Formats: sequence, C-alpha cells, structure tokens
Amino acid sequence: MPTITFTNEKKEIQVPAGANLRAEALRAGVQLYPGIHRVANCHGMGTCGSCRVLITKGMENTNARGLLESARLGVSLAYIGNEQTMRLACKTRVDGDITVTTKPPLNLFGENFFS
Ligand code: FES
Repeated sequence: MPTITFTNEKKEIQVPAGANLRAEALRAGVQLYPGIHRVANCHGMGTCGSCRVLITKGMENTNARGLLESARLGVSLAYIGNEQTMRLACKTRVDGDITVTTKPPLNLFGENFFS
C-alpha cells in the first residue's frame, strides 16, 4: 500500500494503490484548502485550483497531468517556479509513496518567478 506523507501536518497515511489524493487527504483530516476555499471550492471537479499541493517526493508515483489540470495550473501564479512539483490534489492518483506539501504559498520573490 502506498504511503502519503504530509509534511506540514507531520502525518503519514497508507492508501490503496490508485487512490485519489484529495479524497484520502480529506478522509485523514488533512486540510487542503486555504481560507474561504474550505467551503468555496469545486469539490474535486478540477476547476477552482484551490486544492494545489506540491509533490516534493514521488511524482513518478502519480498519474500524468491531464489537459484540464494542466490548463488550470497554467493560469495560476502559484504554478510559476513549481512546474515540476505542483499538482491538483483532486486530479492526482496515488500509485506509490509520495510526500506532499499542502497549501503551498505564493513565492513572488523566488529565484524562478521573474526569470
Ligand atoms: S477541488 Fe477544485 S481544483 Fe481540486
């Protein structure tokens, strides 16, 4: 069974292979949504973009980004500089061990933002 490690929450959970990251996080009591998005989100449709996470380890153990996910992330400022690690939790399938950072902050002054 794959293990999901949530770094901010210091929590590890085991999930069945093929599990949905958003569903498993919410089931484990891990809050994915910042602020008002706790109630105002698209509930996993892949359109609001508020379930953004960083997969800091094990990206190869997830499904490839689909068109909708790529399009949604592509219009997000938070995506800049995080192209290799950012996913929408609701569109991420967990096939092996991954490490996840929830609610990644905007990094407007990061080394990659203006480059
Ligand atoms: S819940 Fe809205 S994009 Fe994932």
